[in-house]
Amino acid sequence: MAASSAIATAAGAAPVIAIDGPAASGKGTVAARVADALGFHLLDSGALYRLVALKALGAGVPFDDASRLGELATALDVSFGPTGVTLEGNDVTQAIRGEAVAEGASRVAVHPAVRRALLDRQRAFRAPPGLVADGRDMGTVVFPEAGTKIFITATPEARAERRRLQYAERGVVADVAALLAEIRARDARDSARAVAPLVPARDAAILDTTDLKVDAAVDFVLQRYAQRAA
Ligand code: CDP
Repeated sequence: MAASSAIATAAGAAPVIAIDGPAASGKGTVAARVADALGFHLLDSGALYRLVALKALGAGVPFDDASRLGELATALDVSFGPTGVTLEGNDVTQAIRGEAVAEGASRVAVHPAVRRALLDRQRAFRAPPGLVADGRDMGTVVFPEAGTKIFITATPEARAERRRLQYAERGVVADVAALLAEIRARDARDSARAVAPLVPARDAAILDTTDLKVDAAVDFVLQRYAQRAA
């Protein structure tokens, strides 16, 4: 309690919109659109876990070596720019989007040492005029004091189909059954882990986007924010 109010004070008045949810629920797209509409900063926290996984793959660090992964997460030399993400000066915008890296991200994300190492980096994104943060634990752990919290879900089948379409846009043909299996495995791992599991914050609004267009989801978040800010 004391820690989260200290964070709120130190960060000043910059509002936070926390958007959490399972893999391929559309939260990244919605978060980016909301940030754009409000002129807010954007934190794609999943990218940080993906970067740790990518770095670990390159450095030959196994996904179960918690202490080396923690060191690697602490030392991560990364920058988020308007054109993409760089790791140690190399553009890795596309490299972090593959399913192998996504799976690695959910494996490195179970380690408390990794999560701890990424905490301050994530909180540093909070700056005026405000922040839209997307992930699994934005509303529960990283920004528990956020004024607006949304938990975006959709059925695993709808999410697998969305992921297939995302790949198709990049010219990659993916098997929807394999994507569905991957999504279910990641859901199970993200929900079952001991630290910062994937659960809605008690004060989050739940938004099921299975039958909802992106525009409607964006409007829902903007409305919730307007109600909070009023
Ligand atoms: O876009 P998608 O939902 O598939 O993945 P992501 O948001 O980039 O997250 C990749 C993995 O990182 C997730 O499966 C989680 O295990 C982990 N993650 C996390 O533990 N905490 C976060 N705040 C964000 C991501």
